[in-house]
Amino acid sequence: MSDLKARIQGIRDAFNQALDQVEGLKALEELRNQYLGRKRGIVKDLLADLRTVSKELRPELGQAVNRLKNTVENALTEKLEALKSGESTGDLQRKMDLTLPGVAPELGSLHPLKVVNRDLIRIFERMGYEVASASEIETDFYNFEALGLTKNHPARDMQDTFYVTDEVVLRTHTSNVQIHLMQESKPPFKAIMPGRVYRKDADITHSPMFHQVEGLVVGEQITFADLKGTLEHFLKQLFGSDTKMRLRPSYFPFTEPSAEVDVSCIMCGGKGCRVCKNSGWLEILGAGMVDPVVFKNVGYDPEVVSGFAFGLGVERVAMLKYGISDIRMFFEDDLRFLSQFT
Ligand code: PHE
Repeated sequence: MSDLKARIQGIRDAFNQALDQVEGLKALEELRNQYLGRKRGIVKDLLADLRTVSKELRPELGQAVNRLKNTVENALTEKLEALKSGESTGDLQRKMDLTLPGVAPELGSLHPLKVVNRDLIRIFERMGYEVASASEIETDFYNFEALGLTKNHPARDMQDTFYVTDEVVLRTHTSNVQIHLMQESKPPFKAIMPGRVYRKDADITHSPMFHQVEGLVVGEQITFADLKGTLEHFLKQLFGSDTKMRLRPSYFPFTEPSAEVDVSCIMCGGKGCRVCKNSGWLEILGAGMVDPVVFKNVGYDPEVVSGFAFGLGVERVAMLKYGISDIRMFFEDDLRFLSQFT
């Protein structure tokens, strides 16, 4: 009799010891089979042995076996939960050295075009400009016609256009936003318009998709002096306070007069080098006073309002700033290139 009782106690102790050693789900499953297995489990064997015990002692010992079975079941379930939630710090400490220095996660970096675009926007936001946008798929009217580029206008050749249909194009510049903005708002306002543009052109300085930032200021008595002062401030913010600016007469169908804007070479400071082809200057912007025809096209009275506009290529600025000679690097997603801009 006490023979069986002692056995139960022995099994209980052995089980507790074995449970303490368990470190993983697999070992726990094995322990469960060993004790509670339906065919050959230790508890099952005990129950079978009960039949050899006298009738008087059977109820008491039966209860003892049942208590053991419950204890084993509960302990196994508890351990299973603990292992699953990994909360067993004792186990953790056994498995890893918590005093080892951590491994810093690798951080990504912003794309160089993103960085330049953000810098450009910030400079103008500090001057009180709002940011405007419009669709990249545009009708002929917004991309050309309203900007004074009538059908058969020779200046349409300046931009190699992707046509979707006869009347719909991928915008060749962000100037389409000018027209939407003027139709939708009343002067005075100043806005910049960053975005993707498309032209059929591909070599080491041209990409069929590239980015522009264009600006438009409209109000009463806006003069060419405002244009000049604004762009000079902008270029000093972008390239440094020593930067010089010069204007050359130029032509755009939607501005009159128009200018090509140069900065003193940011590589050699104006002395002359390979990048500026020994001229000391780099062409960076197109600009001009908004043509009265454009104002008429959006229902503004050119006798009352005046304004200026300018546009630049983001890739060009980024290439100059970072000394990148091939525009295609921006779009190849090569990590050896991109990871240099952290
Ligand atoms: N839209 C012109 C271009 O893409 C740039 C420009 C904008 C020129 C505004 C003058 C004024 O070439």
